[in-house]
Amino acid sequence: MLLLFLLPGAFLLPPGARGGGIVGGREAVPHSRPYMAFVTIKPWWAPAYHCGGFLVREDVVVTAAHCNVKGRVTVTLGAHNLRKREPSWQRIRARRRVPHPQYDKRTTNNDIMLLQLRTRAALTAWVKPIRLPAPWPAVPVGARCWVAGWGRMRFHPPKSSAVLREVDLAVMANETCERSLTRPYYPASMLCAGDPRGKKASLKGDSGGPLVCAGVPQGIVSWGPANGISPEVYTRVSRFVPWIRRAMQRLAGLGTSPRA
Ligand SMILES: *[C@@H]1O[C@H](CO)[C@@H](O)[C@H](O)[C@H]1NC(C)=O
Repeated sequence: MLLLFLLPGAFLLPPGARGGGIVGGREAVPHSRPYMAFVTIKPWWAPAYHCGGFLVREDVVVTAAHCNVKGRVTVTLGAHNLRKREPSWQRIRARRRVPHPQYDKRTTNNDIMLLQLRTRAALTAWVKPIRLPAPWPAVPVGARCWVAGWGRMRFHPPKSSAVLREVDLAVMANETCERSLTRPYYPASMLCAGDPRGKKASLKGDSGGPLVCAGVPQGIVSWGPANGISPEVYTRVSRFVPWIRRAMQRLAGLGTSPRA
């Protein structure tokens, strides 16, 4: 099942989707992840959806393509506690969205999208872009990575978090995901990670957030098993770096005509 956005009360999930929200983690040190973005998509007819994302340039946030629902997109940067109006916040509307052209809704393959902000974020102690990974080499099996989000903290009853939470997971062999998931796992564009003991995970509401390994965003929270926690599937960011760079260049050349 997809690690989809947390709706108050209801989920928009294709059959088979699975959780987003940090399970078994801890509260992050406030503002220790200044690239974290909280993405709100507000359709006029429905409650807001939420996704995570990460700032890669003053005006560009990376998130998951499955977060591309119709509605007004707003990005909150510099947040730790979403229920307090912290002075560090910068709330900026998105001007454009660039989902990957080969994003496949059915298989969730190529689950990556860029959001261009209407104005550049001011770089502060609380708001800073994170560097993209090198296209090569791939992050090795066993690497310890961190996923952060404001999503669900447990499955039943669902509960989301006001503060940013984080959990450490290990990169797993591609075969682990190929073997244990019921939907196709594509190693070139997906990355497999989880908690070997099955106690920790990201869940609904963390979709689009980064999986950070040695300070580098190697994954984007994408989807996972329908029941149970591990392993989960992340978009393999390194594979998309050339596409991200081209798209960012194009966006920079487009000027400022407002189109979200
Ligand atoms: C998984 O497959 C990708 C693509 O073939 C490869 O680059 C990577 O090294 C493999 N192993 C892991 C642990 O991701």
